[in-house]
Amino acid sequence: MRPTALLVEASPRFGRSQSRTAAEKVVGRLKERAPGLRLLRRDLAAEPPPLIDEAFTEAMYVPASRQDERQRQALAYSEAAIAELEQAGALIISTPMNNFTVPAVLKTWIDQVLRLERTFRSTPDGKVGLLADRPTYVIVASGGYITGERARQPDFLTPYLEAVLATLGIKTVQFFHLERLPRDQDLAVIIDEQVQSWLDCHLPSTKNASP
Ligand SMILES: Cc1cc2nc3c(=O)[nH]c(=O)nc-3n(C[C@H](O)[C@H](O)[C@H](O)COP(=O)(O)O)c2cc1C
Repeated sequence: MRPTALLVEASPRFGRSQSRTAAEKVVGRLKERAPGLRLLRRDLAAEPPPLIDEAFTEAMYVPASRQDERQRQALAYSEAAIAELEQAGALIISTPMNNFTVPAVLKTWIDQVLRLERTFRSTPDGKVGLLADRPTYVIVASGGYITGERARQPDFLTPYLEAVLATLGIKTVQFFHLERLPRDQDLAVIIDEQVQSWLDCHLPSTKNASP
């Protein structure tokens, strides 16, 4: 079967998005390492997921074998988004930080895919993920610093996404933070500089590898 990766993007900016620009570099490196890679794209800004409504909330407690047509419809987006996750041997999430956490479209996607008895189970010892672990790369762009000693704001995004992914069963997660990039310089050049060393550490190029 062809190797498959899923790219989930959340920036409402399509032209000068830092997180989207860096995500393309990560995808480029994945394609280099796995020629023939099939890329599924879930662009949450271009097509926002539906908000959780009453029909969804009722349908999610009904076992699949007993769901009627209306309940299946209420869960249709969720099923499609989960199917993409199930196919993906690698996952890339690219997102801006919005008000210390994930943008609303990414939160809504999470509400659609993190589903009791579908992608996780609740046990007396806590929640257990039902999806397979796979290498996952999370690219976070923020206007200010959010890591290290320079941070002057809380970061609810990183621990939140870590918890969400772990609850799905995804524990092999690498974060790449693009923080406070200058606005008056060539974005592509700056991002290239920042992403290369991260890529060389987490996704080394196979081009110059010795046989
Ligand atoms: C509504 C909104 C909220 C934001 N909240 C934060 C924030 O809490 N912390 C921060 O450092 N930057 C914040 N920013 C700045 C963005 O994270 C930053 O511009 C980032 O580069 C956007 O990602 P993109 O270039 O991929 O679109 C916010 C931007 C917007 C539009």
